[in-house]
Amino acid sequence: MLDHVGSTIRVRPSGRALGADIEGADLANLTDADFAVLRQAWLDHLVIRLRGVDIDDPTHVALSRRFGELDFNPGTRLTGKVYVEGIPEIVKISNIVENGKPVGELGAGEADWHTDMCFVDTPPSASLLRSLEIPAAGGDTSYLNMEAAYAALPEALKARVAGRSIKHDAVYVSSGKQRPGTVAPASGDIRDIAGAVHPIVRTHPETGRPSLYLGKRSNAYVLGLEVADSERLLDALWAHVLGGDFIWTQQWRLGDMLIWDNRCTMHRREAFESTERRLLHRCVVKGQKPV
Ligand code: SIN
Repeated sequence: MLDHVGSTIRVRPSGRALGADIEGADLANLTDADFAVLRQAWLDHLVIRLRGVDIDDPTHVALSRRFGELDFNPGTRLTGKVYVEGIPEIVKISNIVENGKPVGELGAGEADWHTDMCFVDTPPSASLLRSLEIPAAGGDTSYLNMEAAYAALPEALKARVAGRSIKHDAVYVSSGKQRPGTVAPASGDIRDIAGAVHPIVRTHPETGRPSLYLGKRSNAYVLGLEVADSERLLDALWAHVLGGDFIWTQQWRLGDMLIWDNRCTMHRREAFESTERRLLHRCVVKGQKPV
């Protein structure tokens, strides 16, 4: 456990490739000194967890704003009706259906490895996710340290990705469903799918550390390569990141809040029983164009 002078907060690293528990933080009355410790822990450990959090939605928004200006998911904005009533900064992640309509995003299925909103030009820096209802089993969320994954990349693969970029599909979500308001390419060719282009290796704007930035696997395309070569390179990169010891898994409890750095991590959510209820509230903070 690490203690910090001038703050009541303690930071307990997970002992895994990323992740730390934050203890002793009163989120509703966080001093500037405490917030500085929390923010530094987020930069150091890439994902931080606070347990037993008992805050309301405005406090969730206020805490998120201390990380920066809030961002809104364009796909979500188009689908509508998944925000917390009267608080458009908070998106609901849920499988609950009320009056025949889902109250939130993602359902009960698996959400495959991804980085939030990689398909826009300026993806978010932070996501703050808080649990309000949790199933008895399943629905764990795993995080992957993309800085460690890059550091461990074999030199031959480092050379193959140097200076290269990925186009991140903005049309389809991982499940294959089309985002509302987007246009599918008539050619069916992944090179023609609309999306944002980002370097495969990005440098963290605050820590200066390099990391892989893969976004999500489906419909990704490495610019300038034949599709088959792009697929081979992406397969090699994904085999590397998923095959190494770069992961930490969160088993949700009621009142958990997770804050992760989208610039250097990926995450996935496992499926759970669809008859169970799961509800989380999420804010995202505006980031910078990856370079
Ligand atoms: C997300 O992908 O942002 C949500 C993760 C979760 O449902 O645990």
